[in-house]
Amino acid sequence: MQNLRYVGKNLFLERISIRSFLKKNKTPFYIYSENQIVSNYKNFVKTFKKTNPLVCFAAKSNSNVNILKILSKQGAGADVVSGGELLKALRAGIKAKKIVFSGVGKTEEELKIAIKKKILLINCESESEAKLVNILAKKLKKKVSIGFRLNPNVDAKTHKNISTGKAENKFGLSIKNFKSFLKGIDKFKNVKLEALSVHIGSQILNHKPYEKMLKVIDKIIRKSNYNFDFIDLGGGMGISYDNKNEKLNYKKYNLAIKKFLKNHKSKIIFEPGRSIVGNTGFLISKIIYIKESGTKNFVILDAAMNDLMRPALYGAKHKILPSKLRNKKFNKTYEFVGPICESTDKFTSLKDFQELKEKEFIIMCDVGAYGMSLSSNYNMRPKPIELLIKGSKIKVIKKRQKHEELI
Ligand code: LLP
Repeated sequence: MQNLRYVGKNLFLERISIRSFLKKNKTPFYIYSENQIVSNYKNFVKTFKKTNPLVCFAAKSNSNVNILKILSKQGAGADVVSGGELLKALRAGIKAKKIVFSGVGKTEEELKIAIKKKILLINCESESEAKLVNILAKKLKKKVSIGFRLNPNVDAKTHKNISTGKAENKFGLSIKNFKSFLKGIDKFKNVKLEALSVHIGSQILNHKPYEKMLKVIDKIIRKSNYNFDFIDLGGGMGISYDNKNEKLNYKKYNLAIKKFLKNHKSKIIFEPGRSIVGNTGFLISKIIYIKESGTKNFVILDAAMNDLMRPALYGAKHKILPSKLRNKKFNKTYEFVGPICESTDKFTSLKDFQELKEKEFIIMCDVGAYGMSLSSNYNMRPKPIELLIKGSKIKVIKKRQKHEELI
């Protein structure tokens, strides 16, 4: 993240020292860099410029309405997975005709909202869902644009909990069902099948699964001879969370798309989440206590798994930085944990970290995606405040919950 750096011993985000906003804001809190969000989005668009895709930001990765507004101003659409996300995207100014609705279990109520709001596509994930859309569309006297989500049976080579494109996963229609359903599509008079969609998983760092996915789609379209206006390739592009700096080879993914488009004249849609906001967010936390216990030295933070679930859910490791550098190293291991009554409430273990003291602050990096959006009120903990920084200006984009709201 280019906008985070030490100046002398102090950590700066954009043009402000982290220490200066620690004075005004109670920890834990999320803070995002607006410049980084805009630059990530622009880079994404530039990378796929020749394809001229519609970029629908995956709102589940970060559904703060102010962040959606920033992306909306840049021209982004949204990929939503619930009625709530759909309404939020509209509130953020994202045009209905740039919204796609994914998800295996859309309810009648949610589908009605989508139909009434005239969004671009409802990406159906089962025959029953498409039938229901057809019935609701008829009742509402509408012709509704839909997509079929295909389960291409491709291994995305990512963490098993965020892999979505294998036959054993609940997502999309199997290749067999996709083909047979396509044959009978004319029976559905109130829907217009305009898109084929896929999304094989998240945090993908290898381009080969994408190449495979495109081959599967190519074959299906050729055989069925159906003309899709849109091919929605989903999201999933991974980011580098550690110092290994592993990167997805966008060039190769792009080449595979270009090859695919030689035979198919469809508009490409992407649904990126993490690649747009992942490295733009930070979770700032205070060290409440440090305790030595047997072989371990626990650094007990005021942030917990309810604020950031990724380590507990996927064993994810987020880089930790001290807000102020100190020359002295601690030669044992620090285990960074939260106050929640679960052993999985643990962020990471680090050896040779600088010596830390109680009441000091640390920064957890790259939590802009699936950080706040996965947070909960477990243990009756109010959700943290969210701040947005742009140059030397900071604003609150979500207030901290109060205990009274939860009781
Ligand atoms: N489209 C669909 C249909 C999706 O299900 C997802 C993410 C995306 C797009 C966006 O994927 P992205 O570009 O962000 O990888 N909570 C997990 C990630 C779950 C992803 C769920 N689907 C994590 O923290 O790693």
